[in-house]
Amino acid sequence: MPVAVITGASRGLGAALAHALDRRGWDLVVDARDADALTTAIGSSSARAVPGDVVDPAHRRALADTAGALGGADLLVNNASTLGASPMPSLAELTPEVLSDTLLTNVVAPHALTRLLLPQLLAQRGTVLNITSDAAVEPYEGWGAYGASKAALDQLTRILAAEQPDLRVYAVDPGDMRTSMHQDAFPGEDISDRPEPATVVPHLLALVEGTLPSGRYRAADVAVEVTS
Ligand SMILES: NC(=O)c1ccc[n+]([C@@H]2O[C@H](COP(=O)([O-])OP(=O)(O)OC[C@H]3O[C@@H](n4cnc5c(N)ncnc54)[C@H](OP(=O)(O)O)[C@@H]3O)[C@@H](O)[C@H]2O)c1
Repeated sequence: MPVAVITGASRGLGAALAHALDRRGWDLVVDARDADALTTAIGSSSARAVPGDVVDPAHRRALADTAGALGGADLLVNNASTLGASPMPSLAELTPEVLSDTLLTNVVAPHALTRLLLPQLLAQRGTVLNITSDAAVEPYEGWGAYGASKAALDQLTRILAAEQPDLRVYAVDPGDMRTSMHQDAFPGEDISDRPEPATVVPHLLALVEGTLPSGRYRAADVAVEVTS
């Protein structure tokens, strides 16, 4: 069975993708900081829950070791992410500490986890899926820390793709989704018109199971094969 490591799988997009891959027979290694929420999210599936913070090197090692014991990761999804602060501050108000924490979670941790899993991914000729955002390319006011972190993640994605032609390496912008993170970005606002994260999953599956070349994609632009 193919093996996937998905960070941030206790809710939102990570949980929706984990459920879909579980239904397709993948072996999953999943994390989140809140162990109870993670256990509840994986429910009766056979996913291995490894609670922890992606910023913690020992936790990342535990993720890699768990995937290795299952035969090695075919897929790494760097999905766990932080906005930095809510409400989101202007650059004039952004503290070095919040910027630094945002870069640690959204850039340094995905790179470090990818680096740890690289031998496994190369052995399987696997796939890396980095979840990015339109904030990586659009100058939204207040999105400085998060936007800069996702822009850096995009560039890590492109460079890893150039350095590792035997892997498929994607950055995927899922678009707006009705999740905790999105609510934190728009505190007090009604976000009920945003699509559920499950609507994005078929596009992610099309990337994972398809043959598109490495690169940056908007999920909505990845065609989904409709079977009747
Ligand atoms: N929602 C949107 O509109 C939107 C738009 C564009 C891009 N994105 C991207 O889509 C991805 C998923 O976002 P989402 O909206 O689904 O977020 P979400 O609902 O807030 O879920 C985030 C998940 O990541 C986990 N997590 C956060 N920080 C972590 C850490 N340091 N270590 C381990 N796990 C951590 C959370 O659990 P714990 O808190 O328990 O750790 C949770 O399981 C992110 O990369 C986000 O930047 C979202």
